[in-house]
Parts: sequence; C-alpha cells; structure tokens
Amino acid sequence: MKGERRTAISLFTSGGIGDLAIRAAGYDILVSNELHEDRHAVFAHNFPETTAITGDVREHTARIVEATRERLDGRPLDLLYATPPCQGMSKNGRGKLLNAVRSGRKPAMDERNRLIVPTMTIARELRPSVVLLENVPEMEGTLIVDDDGELVSILDFIASSLGDDYVGRAEVVEFADYGVPQCRQRLITVFTRDERLKQRLEEAGSLLPRPTHSESGSEGTRPWVTLREALADVPPLDARDADSARHDTIPFHRVPLLDEMKSWWVSHTPPERSAFDNQCVACGHDGNPTHVARRNAEGINRASSTTPVYCERCGELLPRPSVETADGRRRLMKGFTSAYKRMSYDRPASALTRNLSYACSDNKLHPEEHRVLSLYEAFRVHTVDRYDHEWQRADGRKLNDKTVREIIGESIPPAGLETIVRFVTEVSGGLDRPDTLDRPWSDSTREPAAATVAN
Ligand SMILES: C[S@@+](CC[C@H](N)C(=O)[O-])C[C@H]1O[C@@H](n2cnc3c(N)ncnc32)[C@H](O)[C@@H]1O
Repeated sequence: MKGERRTAISLFTSGGIGDLAIRAAGYDILVSNELHEDRHAVFAHNFPETTAITGDVREHTARIVEATRERLDGRPLDLLYATPPCQGMSKNGRGKLLNAVRSGRKPAMDERNRLIVPTMTIARELRPSVVLLENVPEMEGTLIVDDDGELVSILDFIASSLGDDYVGRAEVVEFADYGVPQCRQRLITVFTRDERLKQRLEEAGSLLPRPTHSESGSEGTRPWVTLREALADVPPLDARDADSARHDTIPFHRVPLLDEMKSWWVSHTPPERSAFDNQCVACGHDGNPTHVARRNAEGINRASSTTPVYCERCGELLPRPSVETADGRRRLMKGFTSAYKRMSYDRPASALTRNLSYACSDNKLHPEEHRVLSLYEAFRVHTVDRYDHEWQRADGRKLNDKTVREIIGESIPPAGLETIVRFVTEVSGGLDRPDTLDRPWSDSTREPAAATVAN
C-alpha cells in the first residue's frame, strides 16, 4: 500500500466534514450515502470523484454495496467510516437501561438507533480492514433490538455482526486533546481485522493515538489551544448595528443582528458570564442574586425561576433576559444558566451546535464582543478552514446558513479525526512513508494536524 491512496466509503455523510480528514489522511472516498439532499449536495461539490448515493441507507443498502464493489474493481476496502445520527441515543448506563427495558419501564427502542443494522449489513458484505464509527458518548449505553428481536447493546451488536475476525474498542475522545480549539467529546469506535492493529489493541489496549494536548499541558502534552489563539487576527464585529454585523470582504464573517433589548443584555455581559447574572447599570449595585440551577425532587437540574430582573437596591430593570408581562412589567425569561453566556477566551470554544448563531442557546456569545461567533469563526474553531473546502452545492443552488450550521453542528472537527485516521493507518502499515503521502487537499501553510504520537 506504500505511496498508494487507500480506499474508503462513507455512510451518513452529511456535508462531508469528516471526509475531509479521511481524504487528507490518504484515502479516496469511493462511495457516500446521506439522507438529506441539501447536505449531500455540499459533499458532492467538494468530492466530485465520489459516487454519491442520496437517500435512506435502509433502502439503498444493496446499491451501496454494489457501487462500492464496482469502484473497488478488485481492490480491498480499507475503511468504512460511518456516523449514524445520535438523536436517539440515551444517557443511561447500559445495565440500568437493560433492566429498565426488560422490566417494562422503558418503551421500545428509538428507530434511529437501528440505523446501525444496515451499516453492519454493508460492513459484512464488504469486509473492510477497518470500521470507524463516530457518535455521541451515549452510544456506549444504547440498546437496540436485533434481527432476532433480542435486546442487545449497540456495541455488542456491532461485534457480533462483524464476527470473530474483527476486534475493536469504543473510546470517548475529547477533541481538544488533539489540538482542536473546541471542547467536543465523541465516542470513536474502531473495529479491525488488520493483524497489526489487532496486535496493537492487545498490547496497548487502545487503537487511538495518545493525546497531544491536555487542559493543564502536563505529562508531555501541550496545553489546549484556546479560543483566543483560534480567533487571533479575526476582525471585530458588532451585532448591534447592521453595518458592523458583517465584514465586507471576509466571506461568512457576519452575525445575526440583535434587537435593542438583546443588545442591552449582551453588551452588559462580562467575560465568561451569562446575561442572566448581569448587575444593575442604573445604580451600580452588584449584589443582585445570580441565576443558579439546582436538582429538583426527580434529580433533574432546573434553573431557578426566582432570579430577580429588578435591582434589589434601586428597583430599576436589570439587563437580564426578560419578557414583558400583561401588567407592563417584565419577568425573567425561561433559560438555563448557560444561555446568553460568553465563551472563555482562555479555553477552547464550547462544542459548536446547529444553534451556534443563537445568542439564547448555551455558551454561544463571543468572549468579549457583543455577538455570537460568525460562521467564518466557526469554520476556524471546527478546523474546516484548514482544508480545501467550499461551502457550495454541486447542483449550483443557493446554500442557506441553516444547512451550513447543521453540517457543522452534527460533525466532528476534521483535524482531530485526521490525527486518529492517520494513526490507525500508520499502525496498520499504510503510512510507512508518511512524508511522501500526497496531500493535495490540505493547506500546506498550516501546522500539521496529524502529529502521530506513539503510545
Ligand atoms: C452525525 S451526522 C453525520 C456527520 C458527517 N459524517 C460529517 O462528517 O459531517 C448524521 C447524518 O446521518 C443522516 N441520516 C439520518 N438518517 C439517515 C438514513 N436513514 N439514511 C442515510 N442517512 C441518514 C443525517 O441526515 C445526518 O446528516
């Protein structure tokens, strides 16, 4: 395999953000599948050489297998990359959930979790050297009903579907630990039938590279990359005014305007705090109770509903998120303590979600400026800017911001994934000469994202 590009297919491809990493690590994505046409059109624009099959994986299973065989033309399949949607995954522990379902306290399983079934059918048919799955950490505790109607954990289902040839492990990864300027935890599951990788798993107990970064920067790692570093040299914006809410020449460096009331709350929010904690601007009193959350009788964390919106000293309205009531007064807006909250400049960004442009969503405010992050900044924090990628659709139709936010919010930062895929590839012997690896899609001016560290 030396010097040659490897073969991969991608399931649940969305706009292909993870695929940027896989391609940069030396793989050709032969076939992709995604349900949503608008997302897949962005992938198709950036991966014109891939056979892109749009539609429900359950209906296209045979077609995906057939198209892959055709594209492989006798070569082996090196990697199956699959990222099934995570909305149906549960936070409960495996044992607890199993008991709850068996005793009838939990209803039937979420159908979305069963998307692993066609994924495994495809894996069984194509027998890739490596199966790499990415999902929320909760996947580890998720149960599904298998084809025999038995309730099994999703990870046991994967292992038994793949058969004895494969061994694997699921590990929770913090992407900031791979130098990504964003805290984002994901479950990375790697199953393999490659002998070197099997040996590696047996010896090291893991198929993932050792973290290059950590919060404290200790034990041979570098400190997490901060938002300040990630956004260095980005021109300021201000959501209070239409002219300053967008940059004239930097594409996507624009933010939604804030109305007068929201601007008032946001512009009085100190670094790392939520607007719900803002103090009095009329008399300067700074001892008004802040917004707290407590566990209720059912153990659910609930934000206080008694947080004041009028200053306890002078009675003036506080710049806290509030709504008008029938009597012309205002009451606290419903919101958690992390709503209208500024991210910290001195840490990686909070995990980007599809709500990244909404100030009212959790941890979405810029560390200092009066606004949320722009999409341009989101691309940097998500490391997409390091890859040759265009936010365009293959069909030439207009791409809306909502689709861009969904694609970002549901994907993982490619620089972190590239580190993982390069490591797996190197251990399996595919990167004996990594320096000669053709990386036409990566920006050669950036710091290499793929520093592989042996455990
Ligand atoms: C977690 S996202 C994938 C992220 C993607 N791999 C990336 O790197 O950007 C999951 C994707 O699965 C797609 N999906 C959901 N149900 C599907 C189905 N039945 N068949 C095919 N794709 C599906 C969703 O539309 C969504 O884009």
